[in-house]
Amino acid sequence: MIIFNEQIMVKIGIIGYGYWGPNLVRNFYAARNSMIKAVADARTERLDQLEKIFPSIERVKDATHIINDPNIDAVVIATPVFTHFSLARQALLNGKHVLIEKPITSSVKEAETLIDLAEKKGLLLMVDHTFLYTGAVQKIKQLIDNRELGSVTYLDSTRINLGLFQPDINVLWDLAPHDISILNYLVKEKPHSINATGVTHTKNDVENIAYLTINYESGFIAHFNCSWSSPVKIRMMLIGGDKKMVLYNDLEPTEKIKVYDTGYDHKTDEEKKKVLVDYRTGDIYVPKLNTAEALSGMANDFINCIEQKKKPVSSYEIGLDVVKILEASDKSIKNGGCEVLIK
Ligand SMILES: NC(=O)c1ccc[n+]([C@@H]2O[C@H](COP(=O)([O-])OP(=O)(O)OC[C@H]3O[C@@H](n4cnc5c(N)ncnc54)[C@H](O)[C@@H]3O)[C@@H](O)[C@H]2O)c1
Repeated sequence: MIIFNEQIMVKIGIIGYGYWGPNLVRNFYAARNSMIKAVADARTERLDQLEKIFPSIERVKDATHIINDPNIDAVVIATPVFTHFSLARQALLNGKHVLIEKPITSSVKEAETLIDLAEKKGLLLMVDHTFLYTGAVQKIKQLIDNRELGSVTYLDSTRINLGLFQPDINVLWDLAPHDISILNYLVKEKPHSINATGVTHTKNDVENIAYLTINYESGFIAHFNCSWSSPVKIRMMLIGGDKKMVLYNDLEPTEKIKVYDTGYDHKTDEEKKKVLVDYRTGDIYVPKLNTAEALSGMANDFINCIEQKKKPVSSYEIGLDVVKILEASDKSIKNGGCEVLIK
């Protein structure tokens, strides 16, 4: 790290300039107390594209140039999931702080190995679960933590569109990390078990439609519907509490969150052996949200946590929990939707 006028400059290398990498380059370029030393991509055309926009950034084809560069303090990995583990492991072994795109790795074992290594070396290991830095998710967290929703009883999410069929990971590994990370961020209770079902319509064993249910001992329940086969794009989440309920529509340009003063009370009529439900529908309000770009918050959190040795919002614990649920969902899907315990 270089120190200018008491300010630490974290030197960053970014691996992967495909679809997501350019967003990371743009945000780290603007982030405080850091500079991008080099970007690696195996494809020359991607590096040519980078040169047009950021001619001052060094371009390399081979990621090992970044991993072995003694002048680089931190490595950002934006390559396909199956490459995350080996690139991150090498970077940590070489003493670099590491930020990995979601999901952290392809397996729990790999994630635990990286976490162990980062802890032994005293390095920061962070995962980019971008949604945790959105104004919408921050607001929902605030509503839950301030008990405005009462006791939260369910979370139900739909994340579907005519998506890019991935060759190596199924639709849950592709889309559900967003929802599971939001869930783990909002709800403190640890999941008890999951059930998942899914189908493949491409004869390659990679599910393009899948449904995941996460069960909790308290009775709280979460459900995710993920698909690459929908004619319409839907990014919608419902979070129900016993006082109020929230509708989060990520495709709404401004009114992403609506808080419904809606609920019900119930009592049991012992004589008639009936449950009597009393409904309440009140006002709906639209809270004001922070509109700053989430990736900018994420990039600055990474730099801050390196400087101040702090734990980031999108911690490796959340990254590990996401992979635990995804790995369990593979097992459940391949075994007819059976319940799989989360340890
Ligand atoms: N946080 C988010 O919201 C978000 C959104 C999209 C993708 N992602 C994640 O970002 C990662 C990358 O996804 P993508 O859609 O950009 O993939 P992509 O295939 O479009 O891009 C990956 C790039 O990495 C390069 N690459 C791969 N291995 C390399 C290596 N060893 N050395 C140098 N270059 C290498 C490829 O040439 C390619 O250009 C994935 O983990 C994905 O899950 C996150």
